[in-house]
Amino acid sequence: MNEQNPYNGNQLKIIITQEQVEEKIAELGKRISNDYAGKELIMIGVLRGSTYFMVDLTRKMHVPFAIDFISVSHYSEQADSTGVVRITKDLDLSITDKHVLIVEDIVDTGLSLGYLLRNLKTRNPADLKVCTLLNVEARRIVEVPVDYKGFDLSNIFVVGYGLDYNEKYRNLQFIAEFDRL
Ligand code: IMP
Ligand code: MG
Repeated sequence: MNEQNPYNGNQLKIIITQEQVEEKIAELGKRISNDYAGKELIMIGVLRGSTYFMVDLTRKMHVPFAIDFISVSHYSEQADSTGVVRITKDLDLSITDKHVLIVEDIVDTGLSLGYLLRNLKTRNPADLKVCTLLNVEARRIVEVPVDYKGFDLSNIFVVGYGLDYNEKYRNLQFIAEFDRL
């Protein structure tokens, strides 16, 4: 354990500090606000990992927009091998003719996002884009577009800022590499 931060140590190693995360989110909020000025925007958070990012990102925006949430899960624990994804909580709002921005915590294999994009496209939004805090190109199985991203990561498992290990560590204000031992 580390004296300044009891969460840092043992299995956790900080790779992106709270300051770096905050700075990046402010930058993204500004860019997204500029890009969507004058458009009917709906930001869609993918539960549960994107919640912290969604709240902080939208607080940095200076254009009107609506928010909604969707939840997806993999049928199998081995999502990598089957790739079967389903919606467990659908949107409450209609996205037809709206400018839609999906907000993700991390795009890893791309399986969940690939499924979401296919599904949401059938609802005929005006356009459909993706914003993710973290991007792991090295683990991609499905090719997906990423329009806004915070940080690129190598092939490591991380927690914090919404990302969990067995539902823990989501509240950490930094991103840490997590050693699953
Ligand atoms: P996908 O593999 O791109 O479909 O990502 C599926 C989901 O797995 C992500 O939205 C995260 O919730 C979770 N996930 C992927 N990589 C990590 C990680 O390194 N730490 C914690 N959760 C992760
Ligand atoms: Mg997720």
